[in-house]
Amino acid sequence: MDTEIIKIDRDNFDEDELQRAADIIRSGGLVAFPTETVYGLGGDALNKSSSEKIYAAKGRPSDNPLIVHIADTSQIDRIAVLDKEAYQIEDVPGKVRALAERFWPGPLTLILNKKEEVPYETTGGLNTVAIRMPSDPIAMAFIRRSGYIAAPSANLSGRPSPTKVSHVTEDLSGRIDMIIDGGDVEIGLESTIVDLTDSKPMILRPGAVTVSDLSEVIGEVIYDPGIKVGENVAPKAPGMKYRHYAPKGEMVIVTGSARSVKEYINRRAEEDKHDLIKTGVICADEHVLDYRASVVKCTGKLGDEEAVARRLYSILREFDAEEVDMIYSEAFDDEGIGSAVMNRLLKAAGHRVIDADEAMSS
Ligand code: TXA
Ligand code: MG
Repeated sequence: MDTEIIKIDRDNFDEDELQRAADIIRSGGLVAFPTETVYGLGGDALNKSSSEKIYAAKGRPSDNPLIVHIADTSQIDRIAVLDKEAYQIEDVPGKVRALAERFWPGPLTLILNKKEEVPYETTGGLNTVAIRMPSDPIAMAFIRRSGYIAAPSANLSGRPSPTKVSHVTEDLSGRIDMIIDGGDVEIGLESTIVDLTDSKPMILRPGAVTVSDLSEVIGEVIYDPGIKVGENVAPKAPGMKYRHYAPKGEMVIVTGSARSVKEYINRRAEEDKHDLIKTGVICADEHVLDYRASVVKCTGKLGDEEAVARRLYSILREFDAEEVDMIYSEAFDDEGIGSAVMNRLLKAAGHRVIDADEAMSS
């Protein structure tokens, strides 16, 4: 299949430029497009064969549900149940309204009970549906012209989500009809997912909208116990159980004082060099000269977790391209979007964390 690439200037485009892309969606084809979080791989959410094509193009297990993207809150009613009686949580319709008002368009996905209109192929067989209204103007215009767009991240299954159009072409050229090139994304990590179909509002995947942002609007919000380190419970979002975001090389997160972290990583990198293992380090800009690994990648200024979010997936892909065998990463602050950064980093590392203070003192 030939994949057409069209370039759209996010700050200055004519919506008509997106009509051909929308026509592809309406006739059952697939189009990758930018959103503010990561690039998405779009198909008609209400057409089961489009959803099947999405799974095939990504090589993704079909029990992993897709997020339905909308451009207007009035679209919710056709795909999700909005009766109070259908939920255990108090006043779900009111909560949806309040959350949409505050965070949409933006990096928040809501899980609600689905209506019949949404095929089980789109929801991975579940009776619930994930809904999001992205803020990227290209995404908004594209969805407005297409209807309901089912879109997972536009990467091959198991690879980091795409934050640049080159990541999308790398993974999906020849597998889909069109790629809309809107340049680099703004946030770099996938949306926060909040489930409203359980007994309490629950975060299934942390993102740029944080637990405290949400609590300000709807009161108590809990984390899915399945996404916490060390819990022996399956995560509720089927996608969170896969070893996602994983670089080809082995990865470990090193915590502790800056000095111990530096000493520990340099000692290990020295040993690795001896064993002809190619090493990589992920660190803050200020520490770039401290490390003696084969490749050192900077995430941005110390304490700038938004910069880490923007750079992380690119860095993981670069390590793959450079065939780095062993990656050591500094840990980042767990506040704000930092909690989403650490969630993805821990997954990439298969939850392997070393306390450098302890390691250097023993
Ligand atoms: O930022 C984003 O959300 C991006 C952009 C493209 O919008 N999309 C994205 O989609 O990250 P994807 O498919 O890569 O991740 C969707 C996650 C998966 O972990 C999936 O299991 C979960 O959402 N999910 C979708 N529908 C669900 C449902 N009904 N119940 C529980 N989890 C659901
Ligand atoms: Mg994904």
